[in-house]
Order: sequence, then C-alpha cells, then structure tokens
Amino acid sequence: MKFRTKTGRPEAQRTGCVAVGVFESGTLSGAAERLDKACGGRISDVLRSGDLKGEGGQTLMLHGLADIQATRVLLVGCGKQQEFNDQAYRKATAAAATALQHSGASEAVSYLPEVPLQGRDTPWKIRQAVITTEDALYVYERTKTEHKGPEHPLARLTFMSSQRQAMAGAEQALTQGEAVAGGMALAKELANLPANICTPVYLAEQAMALKKGKHRLRVQVLDEPEMEKLGMGALLSVARGSEQPARLISLEYRGADKDHKPVVLVGKGITFDTGGISIKPAEAMDEMKFDMCGAASVLGTLKACAQMDLALNVVGIIAAAENMPSGRASRPGDIVTTLSGKTVEILNTDAEGRLVLCDALSYAQRFDPQVVIDIATLTGACIVALGHHPSGLLANEDGLAEALLAAGETSGDRVWRLPLWEDYQEQLKSNFADLANIGGRPAGTITAACFLSRFTQDYHWAHLDIAGTAWRSGKEKGATGRPVPLLTQFLLDRAQQAG
Ligand code: BES
Ligand code: MN
Ligand code: ZN
Repeated sequence: MKFRTKTGRPEAQRTGCVAVGVFESGTLSGAAERLDKACGGRISDVLRSGDLKGEGGQTLMLHGLADIQATRVLLVGCGKQQEFNDQAYRKATAAAATALQHSGASEAVSYLPEVPLQGRDTPWKIRQAVITTEDALYVYERTKTEHKGPEHPLARLTFMSSQRQAMAGAEQALTQGEAVAGGMALAKELANLPANICTPVYLAEQAMALKKGKHRLRVQVLDEPEMEKLGMGALLSVARGSEQPARLISLEYRGADKDHKPVVLVGKGITFDTGGISIKPAEAMDEMKFDMCGAASVLGTLKACAQMDLALNVVGIIAAAENMPSGRASRPGDIVTTLSGKTVEILNTDAEGRLVLCDALSYAQRFDPQVVIDIATLTGACIVALGHHPSGLLANEDGLAEALLAAGETSGDRVWRLPLWEDYQEQLKSNFADLANIGGRPAGTITAACFLSRFTQDYHWAHLDIAGTAWRSGKEKGATGRPVPLLTQFLLDRAQQAG
C-alpha cells in the first residue's frame, strides 16, 4: 500500500472514496459534516433512516452523492463520541481499511486522523492509521496455491487534514508507521510459516537477508561448533534432540555514535516446541510453530529500525533451536553447564525457552548493553494470569519497566508487570545443580523470569512473556506481529530522549 498525507476539503477530493467518521446518535465528524452540507443533507438522511448506527467498526458505503467529487463516501462508525479513545480510533481505522480494500476503489482518502482524540496529535493518529491499515489487510499466502484477494485492491490511501498546521510531522509519522507495519508483517510472516520451512537455519538466512541495502546493519551467525567453543551448554542441550542444527544470530544496527551503548533485544527462537522428552499433549501442538515469535519480533523490530533510520544503537540476538524428543535429546535430570558457568538441572525438557535464553542473555553482555529486553513465548501460565490482552512484563529495574509500560499505552501493544521478588527464587532450588529449570506449579511466569534473572544481574533487564499475545488460535489462527509495535515505540521514545 502507498500512503500519503495531504490537506484539502473533503467534498473536493477527486478520488475513488472519501472515508469520514460518524458517531453513535448520528453526530457527524467535521469532515462528514462538510460532505453532508455539500450534498444537501443526504448523509444525515441516511443516518436518520437507521442504515448505520455509528457503532465502532461499522461501515456504510454511499455512492453517487451530488456535488461531491469522490465516486464513493465511506461512513465509518466511531462509537459514542464521549467514549472515543485510542482503542475506538484503531477499530475505526481498521474497519475503514477492510471496507476500502473490498470497495473496488483503487485509491481513497481518509479523514479519520482529523477526528479529535484526547491527548493524541495528528502524527500519532497517522502513525496508528498506517499500522492498523497494514495489520488489517495482511493475508498469509506463502504456502497456499489459491489466492482469493479482492479483484481491485486498494493501492493508495491518503490521510487528510483540513488544516495545514495540523500536518507538521505527518511525513515522519508516515515513515515511522510504515516501518512498524513492515516489521510486524515480517514477524507475522515468519511466525506463520510451518516449522518444516522456518528452521533455525532459515531464521539465520532471513536475518542475513535483512542486511540487503541497509549499510547500518551487521549480521553474525554462530553455528553449533562455535557455540560449543563458547560454552553454551544450555542452548545446545535443547537442540540436541533435533536433526535441525541450532543457530545464534546477532544483528547490530548502528544508528548512533559508537560510544553510545546499545539496547539489546533477545528473542526466543524455538522453531518448534514438542516439549522434548517431557513431551506435550497432541492437542494444538501445531501452534508450537509459533514458539519463535520472540525471535520474529526481534527481526521485525531491527528491520523497522533500519527502515526508519532510527538514531539509536540496537542489537538483536536470537537463540534459534528446535525442541524435539530423540535418542540424543536431553532427559529429565540431566545437568548442563551454561555460558555463565552456572549449572542447571533440567527437570522438565519442556521448559526449554529459559535454557536457550539464559545463554543468549549471558552472550548479550559482550555488547556492553545499556538495557537488555528479552522477548519470549515462555509460559502457558502467562495466559492463565493475563489472558490474551497484555504481554507479561518482569524487570529488575523500575525505570525500564515504566518506559515499557508507557510505550505499551502509546502503541496500544500493552504490557502488565508482575513481581520479580526474591521470595520466588526458592522454588528454583536443586539438590544437584546451581538451579533447576522449573519452579513447580505456583506462579509459573514469575519463576521462569526468576530463572532468567539469575543470568541478567550485570545490567538493567526486562523480560516480556508474549505467550498470550503473539498469536491467535481458532478460526483466526495466525501471528499478530506483537510486540513489534511496543518495541519500536519504546525505541522511538528512547531515541527522542537521547536526541
Ligand atoms: N513454549 C512453551 C510455552 C507456551 C505454551 C506458550 C503454550 C504458549 C502456549 C514453553 O516452552 C513451555 O512449554 N513452557 C512450560 C513450562 C513448564 C514446563 C514449567 C509451560 O508453560 O507449560
Ligand atoms: Mn516448552
Ligand atoms: Zn517453548
């Protein structure tokens, strides 16, 4: 999709469609009001006749309105005017995107960014509109031979304002929105691929491919012998049961001075999680192809950074492996030595995420990080605790946690903090090693983070458990692209503070 921004009157736009907002109770947005005046009140007539209530996400297409230059007018329900918030705005822009995509119009203009929204400026609204539009229009096609998209898809969408001064920063907002949307699309696409295509080696190839045309991006891939030499015993113990060799992928984006310490993002990249010898039940096991969504979000975020030339140094590290049962697989009770030197008793081979992450988190040290954030589909317990709305957040530093909470609100890709109290560490005691890889039933998300915390004592660190947010199950099964919006917003906020 090509996005643009422009100023101009809604009734004067020569285009396939003009999209404008209407509220419940028949109140018109500013642009809808102008159109209504120009066509002699036809829009109010339609609303009065009850064809559109104006509920959030409803749309109604009108054709051939007199004295309006556009071929069509799309009325987009925005819900109750007093309750119009970030969520309602996203819902309206997503609904508009879907309606426009199937309208037959190849180009359209939208006045939705002009609808007043408490605490949000035009650049925010444009950025969000680009992201929700691309998100709504994403379709997975890679492994389907039949593609049934619309015959005349929308090719160009212009976000409008009637006032020129409101459009300061609009161009930059477009660039940022497109970068975030592109990062999300990459994350979704990789995560949606089946595990027989998306292997650790494939992820490494995708990381390499990101370099193309991006001179600020460096990529390095370690194979198993190289990891062995470093002493990554925990990561390698997970890969042992699989025919697919593990990879440790690092991506370095340099957008600031060399002496500027980087933000390091560490992604869990289990390309398939059978559970290993502690094998999972069959039901919905296919969804364990999504166990690399943390890794996918790191690749998506690095891609977005490079695309928007972010003025920050960012490093991505991906621990990629497949968790399979076999004669070579780790057994419950096996003890491995991690890169940190600490020994771990593997009491459950299905708690493999923390095993690959602990070595990647020790490896992060060599980049002299300002902060480290790991992203992982780590625990089913996180879904029990928080459901599918926020990602779980645990951190060893309050400032970092607060910055992530704030970025979550701005981007709509929210997180909720859980405690990382010392009290929980006791659950990880082992009679045979420095620590065990599971902490029993109570507080599974917290004890998983506690495990990681034992490897992150030398820097400010946050952990995002995305088990409930990285993909959807059921009829709409598929990756969400989260938390790319959260991470990119966090980085944008940080770049702004630095610059
Ligand atoms: N990848 C899973 C976590 C998961 C499960 C995410 C289901 C989303 C949906 C992880 O590797 C895992 O298996 N965790 C175990 C930990 C347990 C053995 C302590 C879990 O959550 O059951
Ligand atoms: Mn597992
Ligand atoms: Zn897993």
